[in-house]
Amino acid sequence: MTFQYMNVFSLLVVVLASTHFLSSNLRHVKHFLEEFNVISSSPDLIITQLNRHHHHHGKKASKVDICDDFPHDSVPPDTNTTTTFCVDRNGCCNFTTIQSAVDAVATLSTKKSLIWIKNGIYFEKVIIPKTKPNVTFQGQGYTSTAIVWNDTAASSRGTFYSASLQVFSTNFVAKNISFMNVAPIPKPGDVGAQAVAIRVAGDQASFWGCGFFGAQDTLHDDRGRHYFKECYIQGSIDFIFGNAKSLYEDCQLISMAPSLLVGQKSINGVVTAHGRASADEDSGFAFVRCSIGGTGRIWLGRAWRPFSKVVFAYTYMSDIIAPEGWNDFNDPSRDQSIFYGEYMCTGGGANASMRVPYAQKLNDTQASLFLNASFINADQWLPAQL
Ligand SMILES: *[C@@H]1O[C@H](CO)[C@@H](O)[C@H](O)[C@H]1NC(C)=O
Ligand SMILES: *[C@@H]1O[C@H](CO)[C@@H](O)[C@H](O)[C@H]1NC(C)=O
Ligand SMILES: *[C@@H]1O[C@H](CO)[C@@H](O)[C@H](O)[C@H]1NC(C)=O
Ligand SMILES: *[C@@H]1O[C@H](CO)[C@@H](O)[C@H](O)[C@H]1NC(C)=O
Ligand SMILES: *[C@@H]1O[C@H](CO)[C@@H](O)[C@H](O)[C@H]1NC(C)=O
Ligand SMILES: *[C@@H]1O[C@H](CO)[C@@H](O)[C@H](O)[C@H]1NC(C)=O
Ligand SMILES: *[C@@H]1O[C@H](CO)[C@@H](O)[C@H](O)[C@H]1NC(C)=O
Ligand SMILES: *[C@@H]1O[C@H](CO)[C@@H](O)[C@H](O)[C@H]1NC(C)=O
Repeated sequence: MTFQYMNVFSLLVVVLASTHFLSSNLRHVKHFLEEFNVISSSPDLIITQLNRHHHHHGKKASKVDICDDFPHDSVPPDTNTTTTFCVDRNGCCNFTTIQSAVDAVATLSTKKSLIWIKNGIYFEKVIIPKTKPNVTFQGQGYTSTAIVWNDTAASSRGTFYSASLQVFSTNFVAKNISFMNVAPIPKPGDVGAQAVAIRVAGDQASFWGCGFFGAQDTLHDDRGRHYFKECYIQGSIDFIFGNAKSLYEDCQLISMAPSLLVGQKSINGVVTAHGRASADEDSGFAFVRCSIGGTGRIWLGRAWRPFSKVVFAYTYMSDIIAPEGWNDFNDPSRDQSIFYGEYMCTGGGANASMRVPYAQKLNDTQASLFLNASFINADQWLPAQL
């Protein structure tokens, strides 16, 4: 299997062209798509298509025209257990921003809140506070519905506050939507340029068919138990980081670290930086049936804190994985407490013959703890979905 981030966004470009949004933001996303190599040959594609669209509708384009095709039938009605909030950036249903729908959710509601989100790029920084549990974001596809912002560590109160979506509540669910941070990609030596796409700081969160786009520190898998199914996760350095206990199944992990010249041995990316600080902490990242591809020369993980715990099982690894595989954050005292395991992985990057000595080839018994949703006590909380 090979993955190209170019393909993923060809669809998003079409959506960009068919929606109405501010030209400064448009420029920004165009810049992002170029920087992230999404548009290589035709940087003016979006502008051209947007102009064509405007031309087509001319000055007569009105709200009524735009809303003629709105699929009102697709928006699920309220039930006695769920309240539905509809978001459309063109104003064809109740809310035009996702945050305004979140704000409308009743505090500590005894019902679930389904926020149904029409295709489009939502340029906003969104926060779901602790007082709003049981919120679901339902997008129309991760290549066509996205929450996009561009804060960095320097422009917010630090990396932890830079995320385009921050989730502090329990039982958050997201389906078929992307989270993007389009801040400029950090250059070597840049300070405070880390830019998180999402911070997941509530317990019992799940993500189904979602996209996560950024460079350094894309997915802040902060704390709690989380589940990721069939997601697309792109980044460069430490692009999945935090101290959560999470299971990632059937996800694509795509490095967008710069390509290196043949023979160059430097490392320019890392998939995970798990932040377990002591033996008492019940956290860890498990990746099952995932695939790792993209560009650069990267490690599977580095020990952000001494008890960092990460397992890859049944995962395809392209040869962008450096033969040593893992890094102890240049602190050999961590080698005793790190738990880095691999089990039944395939591909050129999975060759374990040159791995660091503290990397473990797990046996069946050891691996079994990480291979299914029992790892995150899913029977207590994870609904069967999709
Ligand atoms: C909710 O509605 C369904 C039918 O739509 C009904 O069978 C059920 O009893 C209702 N539950 C409550 C708690 O009102
Ligand atoms: C959403 O709009 C519909 C129809 O326009 C209306 O009936 C409903 O009360 C609105 N819901 C909210 C939460 O504003
Ligand atoms: C909301 O989430 C809490 C856990 O945070 C759970 O106990 C409760 O049953 C949920 N309520 C609904 C209506 O889903
Ligand atoms: C997500 O989108 C895919 C195709 O785009 C669709 O087949 C699937 O049913 C959707 N799932 C959810 C939960 O929205
Ligand atoms: C985010 O984008 C806006 C619009 O392009 C720009 O004015 C702002 O400086 C950017 N913020 C950061 C932190 O780069
Ligand atoms: C694994 O790497 C070693 C050292 O580079 C090499 O000798 C060996 O052939 C490789 N094994 C496979 C199965 O590719
Ligand atoms: C698996 O590895 C553990 C830890 O090294 C060891 O205690 C156990 O005996 C092994 N089990 C099997 C079936 O090899
Ligand atoms: C998960 O794996 C464990 C260990 O192999 C097993 O005991 C458990 O029944 C499995 N759970 C599910 C939900 O498949």
